[in-house]
Amino acid sequence: MTPMRAHVYQALGTNVGLAGKRRCLNMQEFRIVLLPGDGVGPEVIREAGKVLLAVEKKYSHRFTLTEGLIGGAAIDSAGVPLPGDTLELCRESDAVLLGAVGGAKWDYLPGDKRPEAGLLGLRKALQVFANLRPVRLFPSLVDASALKRQVVEGADLVVVRELTGGVYFGQPKGRFTRDGQVTALDTMVYTRFEVKRVARVGFELAAGRRRRVTSVDKANVLESSKLWREAVTEVGNEYPDIELNHMYVDNCAMQLIRDPRQFDVVLTENMFGDILSDEAAMLTGSLGMLPSASLGHGRASLYEPVHGSAPDIAGRNIANPLATVLSAAMLLRYSLGLHEEAAAVEGAVTKVLEKGYRTRDIFAEGTTVVGTAEMGDLLVEEILRGT
Ligand code: IPM
Ligand code: MG
Repeated sequence: MTPMRAHVYQALGTNVGLAGKRRCLNMQEFRIVLLPGDGVGPEVIREAGKVLLAVEKKYSHRFTLTEGLIGGAAIDSAGVPLPGDTLELCRESDAVLLGAVGGAKWDYLPGDKRPEAGLLGLRKALQVFANLRPVRLFPSLVDASALKRQVVEGADLVVVRELTGGVYFGQPKGRFTRDGQVTALDTMVYTRFEVKRVARVGFELAAGRRRRVTSVDKANVLESSKLWREAVTEVGNEYPDIELNHMYVDNCAMQLIRDPRQFDVVLTENMFGDILSDEAAMLTGSLGMLPSASLGHGRASLYEPVHGSAPDIAGRNIANPLATVLSAAMLLRYSLGLHEEAAAVEGAVTKVLEKGYRTRDIFAEGTTVVGTAEMGDLLVEEILRGT
């Protein structure tokens, strides 16, 4: 196994997380970069930062949290969506936790100058090609789901989204005039290598779960999908004890709503994964509940909530910080090897929800609405108490 593959697999916990353990014994400092970004980003990152500091205190670790600029915030103060010193900070860190980027204020900018270009550039620079988006239903939130309890209860799947290729990055890309018509072009492109490396992450993940991979493509139409299907099948042959099935993306969109429990690992390309993960988030009741981890072969992995910057609710202390807090839990587990601590954060989220505290997006009758900051305080209390 090449060191690169070993790293990703280790992060997934399929190899013993030795690096993490050794570091803990030495009380090594963990360097975590916080990138609040735009919209609700700063609010949710503040709460996740509080949670990380509570973990540091409770478990006697040394975390150094450093903030950096990205997205619109970076455009406003540094003129570019991903300043060089932000990238350097991230590269030198153990892990990066990002809030969200984007907003109407920067919509007039050309594609490569927009806040989103900062995030895409960061993903590409850190080479985090595998984006894990677990969709887990907290029992106390079943009734907040857009689906009926009998359809959604027990659903537990992970979207593994390829993150550094496909139509997001394909060249050529741009706008020109052809036959007197203004024309725009994007290119969906994959190499066999890119497909196989993310497929392996999907299979390794499935090995520690219910051993089922659904690979999603549009192989009845797209060349890139035909290659995708071929390459995933090849990797599948290396994992005879994992069931592989292929599904067209339109059918998958439908099946997620019809019968989400059929899925374990959903493996797909960049744009399909973007769309399907937002859809899958609604199984959990709110986009505000979905965390993600973006892993690669570099030292620093990237963690971010699946939701966007939600400018309409920014600055009002009503955003749900749980997706970001759960992303911080994934950071503790995958980047720092702190499994107990990660479980403690997830346990705190479960407890606080069981006690009936809700942000507005997941409110149901008979529960108590709290603000973004109060939700963070409740989690900190729960972690320090040590449940
Ligand atoms: C996501 C987001 C981003 C993406 C945007 C903000 C560029 O929608 O992480 O799902 O499309 O990847
Ligand atoms: Mg998205």
